[in-house]
Order: sequence, then structure tokens, then C-alpha cells
Amino acid sequence: MGDSPASIAPRTSGRARHVAIIMDGNGRWATKRGLPRAVGHQRGVEAVRRLVRGLEPMELDCLTLYAFSSENWKRSVDEVDDLMNLMRRFIKSDLPDFVANDVQLKIIGDWQSLAPDIVAMLEDALTKTSNGSKKLAVALNYGAQHEIARAAAKAAALGEITPETIAAQLDTHDLPPLDLLIRTSGEIRLSNFLLWQAAYAEMLFVDTLWPDFKPEHLERALDDFAQRERRYGGR
Ligand code: FPP
Repeated sequence: MGDSPASIAPRTSGRARHVAIIMDGNGRWATKRGLPRAVGHQRGVEAVRRLVRGLEPMELDCLTLYAFSSENWKRSVDEVDDLMNLMRRFIKSDLPDFVANDVQLKIIGDWQSLAPDIVAMLEDALTKTSNGSKKLAVALNYGAQHEIARAAAKAAALGEITPETIAAQLDTHDLPPLDLLIRTSGEIRLSNFLLWQAAYAEMLFVDTLWPDFKPEHLERALDDFAQRERRYGGR
């Protein structure tokens, strides 16, 4: 069985291979401290960096992070600019770290329509990290409904629409099946993230605001996951 989510790969217990996180609460973290939202996003990037650096002992095959949704364009121009500039700086500063730490960058979403300089930086980062064994998938300009619609259209063009043919065309087609989806900040919704892939994933909603999220929080979430019994509709 390969890594295709088409094979919903029932794993009824054991460690998680693929965890995805909706990183929520940057704005509230900043507002609570009387700081501009931009500072919350900066601290959010630091939480990302801390987590990626702390991944090694967790033995994950893939971590997927929701960094910018297709709905985030509705935010103020200044906030969107801040997020894009953070992205530029993050790729530039952390790319050598990824290469040194065997991380393979993946991007999901409609990232090719971002600013041309960001697209070029991402293409370079994808090439330079292509031999890494641990995947870090970053969702950029991502919306699950669009992803599914695009995948269904491609499957139809190839002749047959089935769950398997759609899954094979999703942006996540080369990532392991999703085991655990975490959202921070106490909100309990999926916000158009990995709707297809979450069909059999476990969910964990934690109150921690994203800038306060530490590798220990993920370790705790993985322990929690390992205790759960997954039945995939069976008994
Ligand atoms: C949610 O906080 C977070 C985002 C919209 C973006 C997440 C982005 C980062 C953590 C930084 C960029 C990431 C990378 C990988 C460079 P919010 O602003 O919705 O918080 P709020 O709900 O408290 O207002």
C-alpha cells in the first residue's frame, strides 16, 4: 500500500504518521497583550520554527500546516502584506535548516497564483529539499472545496470519478493518509481545511493560542492519539 490517501489505510492504533494543524489565535495572542496583530503572526512563525526543529523525536512522516487560506485574502491589505512578507522571510531564513534536517517541503493549495517572487522562492525551496525524508506540507492559498473541485475535474477528464481517482488528484496525493487534525485557540471548526483528507482523521481542539504552542503540546497530542481506537466505521 503506497502513500496515496486513496487507500484510506486503516491503522487502528499506534503512532501518528501524518498530523495537520490549523494554527489559530495569532491575532488574539497579540490583542491580549496590546500588541499589533502583526506581532502575533511573527510569534506564530516562531512557533512554526520551534515545532519544525523539535520534530525529530516525534517520528512523524508528515506535518501539514495551514498557513494561508483562500479566504484569508479578505483580511486587510496590511495584514495580507504582513503574512506574505513573513512567508518570504521564513523561506529565506529557514531553508538551510530544512535541508540540514532532512525536511522535504511540500506546498498544497493554489500557491502558483501568489506573487511571482514568492512562487520562485517556493519552487527553489521545493527543489532544494526534494530529497528530504520528512515532509513539511504548507497550505498556501488553500481551500479544501476548491482542491476537491479541481481534483474531481481532473479525474473526470481522465475518464472516471471515484473516491480513489479523486484522491489521486488531490494536492495531498503524495502525502501519507491524515491521522490527526489539531486546531489551536479553542475554535471548533475545520474552516475549509483538508475536508476530504479528514474523513477518517482523529480531531483534537486545544485552547492554546498558536504563538504559545510548543513541541511538548504536539507530543501530548500524539500521546492522546496513540490512546484512541480507530474503527473506520467498523466495530
Ligand atoms: C490564525 O491566526 C493564523 C493565520 C491566519 C495564519 C497562520 C500563519 C502563521 C502562523 C504565520 C505564517 C506561517 C508560516 C509557515 C510562515 P488569526 O490571525 O486568525 O488569529 P485570531 O483568530 O486570534 O485573530
